[in-house]
Amino acid sequence: MCGIIGIVGTSPVQGRLIESLKRLEYRGYDSAGIAAQINGVLERRRAPGKLRELEAVLEREPLNATTGIGHTRWATHGAPTERNAHPHIVGRVAVVHNGIIENFAELKAELIAAGRVFQSDTDTEVVAHLLDAELATGLPPLEAFKATLARLRGAFALCILIGGEDEVILAARNGPPLAIGYGDGEMYVGSDGLALGPFTNRIAYLEDGDFAILDHDTARIFDQTGAPADRPIKIVPASAVMMEKGNYRHFMEKEIHDQPEGCQRTIAAYVDPLASLVAVPGGLDFSTIERIQIVACGTSYIAGVIGRYLIEQLADLPVDVEIASEFRYRQPSIRSGALVIAMSQSGETADTLAALRYCQERGMKSAAIVNATESTIARSVDVVWPIHCGPEIGVASTKAFTAQVSVLTALAIAAGKARGRIDAIEEARLVNVLLGAPRLIAEAIGLEDAIKDIAAEVSKARDVLYLGRGPMSALALEGALKLKEISYIHAEGYAAGELKHGPIALVDDQTPIIILAPFDSWFEKSASNMSEVMARGGQVIFITDPDGARHAPAGAKVVVTAPSSDPLVSALVMSVPIQLLAYHVAVQKGADVDQPRNLAKSVTVE
Ligand code: F6R
Repeated sequence: MCGIIGIVGTSPVQGRLIESLKRLEYRGYDSAGIAAQINGVLERRRAPGKLRELEAVLEREPLNATTGIGHTRWATHGAPTERNAHPHIVGRVAVVHNGIIENFAELKAELIAAGRVFQSDTDTEVVAHLLDAELATGLPPLEAFKATLARLRGAFALCILIGGEDEVILAARNGPPLAIGYGDGEMYVGSDGLALGPFTNRIAYLEDGDFAILDHDTARIFDQTGAPADRPIKIVPASAVMMEKGNYRHFMEKEIHDQPEGCQRTIAAYVDPLASLVAVPGGLDFSTIERIQIVACGTSYIAGVIGRYLIEQLADLPVDVEIASEFRYRQPSIRSGALVIAMSQSGETADTLAALRYCQERGMKSAAIVNATESTIARSVDVVWPIHCGPEIGVASTKAFTAQVSVLTALAIAAGKARGRIDAIEEARLVNVLLGAPRLIAEAIGLEDAIKDIAAEVSKARDVLYLGRGPMSALALEGALKLKEISYIHAEGYAAGELKHGPIALVDDQTPIIILAPFDSWFEKSASNMSEVMARGGQVIFITDPDGARHAPAGAKVVVTAPSSDPLVSALVMSVPIQLLAYHVAVQKGADVDQPRNLAKSVTVE
């Protein structure tokens, strides 16, 4: 979850480390720091809080060096204070780390018993002490590093400077990703390709267990047995432009507005618009698949639930969807003939990766629906289905969600066709409906002013209840998740049929009840729930479409009329009002929309 960068450079490095850390801040923003070597002496600057605090420190006390490392932190062990900020320097070692050293307590006790004094509460500091102790025995850096790595258990990406070894960086990966960048007389190492984007597009990805030593010209990479390893260098397209906010105040706002174009790009990769045919890449034959298991976390999990409705309905193919952190530990039974689909925007979520590996180890065929196509998950599966929405920077997922649902919709059509449930006429109809979704999403964005007014009311609430049926019950979860994470309002998402089994007790005249109900086969049931809520004084915000607005029981506090849509794409269209509502509530509450408290975009620890 932390971001790491290292540069073995020929020109000043401070500004470039900061530039990279800005690109990595999505991984964590509790504190930041950089270290460099000046005349053989390690120096560092650190600051708690956002990167701008570190920039202020560097303005007062610059670091003039050409080789250095940097870190932006999402705290696991130790509060987000300056003393716990990375880099940690011990003797000849400066280290930045992403992940968790699981056996740090036992290592720390051993090091303290040997007379070592700790300056922080982090697990990371044990790495610096261990390596410093190995160096003190006279081992050369690479050998000392190997001996240190052999003592560590857990998940880590490490990037290290050694005092007196001016032009060298050590790096290791066990779990969280690490990319090596090849420049012109310069070498780089970073948490992802995005961090290296300003410097190079020639990138190699370390495999689990790899460690490396970088100098000006190259990286010598070794696998977990210590044998030299050759990791292919790929040309990764620069995506700098996509990282700008443009005229928007927040990345989240921009990403909501990017969705019509983003989904168009996604859908174009999965259908043939001229022939009105579905055209899913990857060559998977759905007629040979007996069951699908989707594993994912957070918003990606919710996209998976929507996918289940679509795939089961159109293809009569059983789909299980499970939160990856639960799936991986409950020893689920694996069925032969099943396909596992790992769904992840970042492609690095630790639990999703572990759940995927669980299935792969038991012989399941695997696929991934990812945004980051060079991510660990993408590189681990038989079939990759990219979502093509461009880098998502706002911590709250928006455009990746609609892109994931777009891909799942195309897969549902393809599976229905392959399994003989959809004929050519129906295929053409469904493909054309899907192709029309970006226009409807754009129309839904037109509701923004109306939603701003509703946000003014909702921002005063302590609790919010989201209800829906069918795919809208999944969207209710997503609406509640979005509100919680960026506006810190307690929100619950419920399948409306469950109302009478408990949540109706929450209904009072202070709690906004948001009901998602397009005019579909579930509408009448949702309208009854609306009446039940209103009969108990509930303040209903009814999000529907023109037919739903006409048929809705009177008495809602507000009716939001989204564009009318075929049930195939109604989840895509209805996503927009819930995203806009969460966004404007957060803005009205003055919350930090793109970097909400305690969260990070990429969750590479479990
Ligand atoms: C919520 C959100 C998270 C992510 C979750 C999974 O807005 O963004 O819930 O969806 O952390 O992340 P990925 O999709 O990268 O695996």
